[in-house]
Amino acid sequence: MTRTIKIFDTTLRDGEQCPGASLNPEEKLEIARQLAKLNVDVIEAGFAIASQGDFEAIKTIAQQIKGPAICSLARCKKEDIMRAWDAVSYSDKPMIHAFLATSPVHMAKKLKMTPAQVLKAAQEMVALAASLCPFVEFSPEDAGRSEHKFLYKVVAAVIEAGAKTVNIPDTVGYTTPWEFAQLIENVIQNVPAIKKKNIIISVHVHNDLGLAVANSLAAVKAGANQVECTINGIGERAGNASLEEVVMGINTRKSFFDCKTNIKTKEIYKTSRLVSNLTGMMVQPNKAIVGANAFAHEAGIHQHGMLQDRTTYEIMKPEDIGLTESKIVLGKHSGRFALQKKLKEMGYALDKEGLEKAYQRFLTIADKKKDVSERDLEIIVAEEVYVVPEDYTIESIEINSGTKTIPEATVTLLYQGKAIKKVANGAGPVDAVYKAIEQLTKVKAALVDYSIQAITGGTDALGEVIVRIKDKDKIYVGHGADTDVIVASGKAYLAAINRLLYATTQR
Ligand code: KIV
Ligand code: ZN
Repeated sequence: MTRTIKIFDTTLRDGEQCPGASLNPEEKLEIARQLAKLNVDVIEAGFAIASQGDFEAIKTIAQQIKGPAICSLARCKKEDIMRAWDAVSYSDKPMIHAFLATSPVHMAKKLKMTPAQVLKAAQEMVALAASLCPFVEFSPEDAGRSEHKFLYKVVAAVIEAGAKTVNIPDTVGYTTPWEFAQLIENVIQNVPAIKKKNIIISVHVHNDLGLAVANSLAAVKAGANQVECTINGIGERAGNASLEEVVMGINTRKSFFDCKTNIKTKEIYKTSRLVSNLTGMMVQPNKAIVGANAFAHEAGIHQHGMLQDRTTYEIMKPEDIGLTESKIVLGKHSGRFALQKKLKEMGYALDKEGLEKAYQRFLTIADKKKDVSERDLEIIVAEEVYVVPEDYTIESIEINSGTKTIPEATVTLLYQGKAIKKVANGAGPVDAVYKAIEQLTKVKAALVDYSIQAITGGTDALGEVIVRIKDKDKIYVGHGADTDVIVASGKAYLAAINRLLYATTQR
């Protein structure tokens, strides 16, 4: 019988741990909403004890998102378990994910605990979690480098204590698919309670050697029935297994795996874009499934084949992941109704206010560009609808630069309804704009990253700029798009500053 593999999404927990991807609670809620549409089985919404912000985000997601189980991570400590329960208890499918390392190096060097102490703590804390919460998952962290016999002992003990799911993580992405599949088979064979109690065996693999998806799929073949993964594969260091690759692997090779997932694959592309826009983590063009080139055919011989029959070079249809350029072409003569219809088709159900904001922005872009593409619309929605309250907005940016001039920017911002203006010079036009913004907002944060890309083809394309600024060890991402790349750069910088101000003034 075809097995159903559960998809445990950890974009909002492990994914958010990747450098520079911090999300505010509103953004986490937006992503959770989309993950529910994607129909993931579990949303790991955060690590409740890590911060008040994380706690609030998990609680709000638990209150508002229906469908998937809502989970919080917890160390095997009483205060962690209680805090996790406080946050997830608002969900109708609450879940606590307790973890404790079992590898010799982690136990000795990090935890400074003996194996016997680890076994005892795991058992006691899972028992505590199970006394509060109907769904408890346990992870023996760094299982990939743990001693097998000890691992079986811990797995048996936590099942006895009430864990319904046991997750086997390869925390440092060290194993190969052959070894990892063998590990999963061994765990299932050597812990009889797994079959007897119908325990879910989950896997969670990091991508340090680029093997996260391969290892996860090998584990599925070996009997795992849940995969933990993130959208676009974001996560600690080299990231986690990418959800879209795992799901489309299982989907495309159905007869090989004899498995399926509950994922609505047509929501994949939109989810990928949303996560990329809100985290500021760009997707590389050649990324499998969701990269800009994933369905592009450049070579003449390939194009010829595709024209005869698309299956010559395509193993999946772009439509399967929701990548459709529909027939509705939007331009400056399109009205609100057409825009709303198009956005709805793309999956965005905006309220009246959101639609109006999107429409006004759409008009300014349509004025400069002949056709407004779906990608342009995604940016409009990301910039106009998913925003934090802004202290400053851009009124105007004027530039004087070129080969014979010292670049000079005149920037006018609106602050509390009043226009404030500054003229500044810089090494280049972007530098001049940033200096003017810095002086106007009096925010001095280090610019740690600046990236720019054209969103669509042609010289009239929207330029998309993502910046990261750092203040007291926290990273704030700003995102800006415009047909003028200097304006896009200014918008991105100011968006990051607004986020910093929003976060630091505790609103
Ligand atoms: O990578 C890891 O081991 C983790 C655990 C908390 C599951 O993220
Ligand atoms: Zn992890």
